[in-house]
Amino acid sequence: MDNPLTWRLERAAYRTQHISILVNSILLEHLARRFARRPAPRVPKPVAQLVRGRLADLLDRDLANVEQGLYPRELLFQLPIATYMRNLPSMMRDLPRTVRRIRKGNYQDLPGEVDVERYPPYYRRNFHWQSDGYLSHHSARLYDLGVELLFHGTADIMRRQIIPPITHYLRDTRPASGSRRPGARLLDIACGTGRTLKQLATAHPDLRYHGVDLSPYYIHAARKLLADVEEATLLVENAENLPYIDGYFDIVTSVYLFHELPKNARRRVFDDAYRVLRPGGLLVVEDSAQASESAAILSILGSFPDEFHEPFYRCYLTDDLAALARQAGFVVESSEPHLVAKVVVARKPGR
Ligand SMILES: C[S@@+](CC[C@H](N)C(=O)[O-])C[C@H]1O[C@@H](n2cnc3c(N)ncnc32)[C@H](O)[C@@H]1O
Repeated sequence: MDNPLTWRLERAAYRTQHISILVNSILLEHLARRFARRPAPRVPKPVAQLVRGRLADLLDRDLANVEQGLYPRELLFQLPIATYMRNLPSMMRDLPRTVRRIRKGNYQDLPGEVDVERYPPYYRRNFHWQSDGYLSHHSARLYDLGVELLFHGTADIMRRQIIPPITHYLRDTRPASGSRRPGARLLDIACGTGRTLKQLATAHPDLRYHGVDLSPYYIHAARKLLADVEEATLLVENAENLPYIDGYFDIVTSVYLFHELPKNARRRVFDDAYRVLRPGGLLVVEDSAQASESAAILSILGSFPDEFHEPFYRCYLTDDLAALARQAGFVVESSEPHLVAKVVVARKPGR
């Protein structure tokens, strides 16, 4: 860190930013719950304490990652708060419609003009009871704000925990001359609106970025978000059947996808990630924490599908991501929790 005083001030600003998002998101959640007459699930005190401890660890680690040069400090302040504030009224206006949908259990309430037959059956639903599922520009506009509110301002922080293993990998594979592996290619599977890719491109501007997602609306949003990234190609494609030749990528990532897939689809995505990665390539997957490493907070994780429409989540909880990676042929290097998420790092054997 160049100037210790500036860094101390930035750390204070970072913590202030976090507290203000935390307080506001808790307040908004409280109001939404009162409106919907859905009280918050009761969390046993020891579990709440554990989660608070994990939150403190996540924020400390975020700062430590910057100090260690694993990603740049500008990521600490990259949340588009003005955009989120602009979208908040739209989200509030959506609330009565969402509450009606929840009360009726209408998970197939999707825009009439969309040809749902083009999508796999598991996808034809409104995950989280989100208006239009993933199938409209309206949904793509509100999604990031919704996720950030759900995780009380930690969604992007958890997302960027996939960056340190990538930074280490790039350092380790740097050619002797000191320059980076020329044109290393990274694919983000189910890239959504592009928030992970955007943070990655800020940390590592010299990679060639690719992203796929089933939603044309989310890909449209991702293209806008990544408009200033020189090498970014975003495609509407199914992660179960990736449109790339074998061994095309040096790095494959995926964030918050697998809990929304049925068991077999999860395996097919891991298999195809293995196929498109070069021997020696890196896989970094992040998703919800699971029973394997987070049994102590299982009561909180288990209440998620009661509250939100997440039909594959219960089975996901015991379908360990590290085990899935091994089944696909990867060598798992680490599997670590980060608040209510986890990051699995694995390599495709070979060179
Ligand atoms: C919970 S969101 C996560 C999006 C993004 N990675 C993020 O961090 O916000 C799940 C995403 O997976 C996409 N998705 C679900 N099934 C898919 C599939 N079979 N192929 C490609 N994308 C898929 C959805 O369209 C959605 O954008």
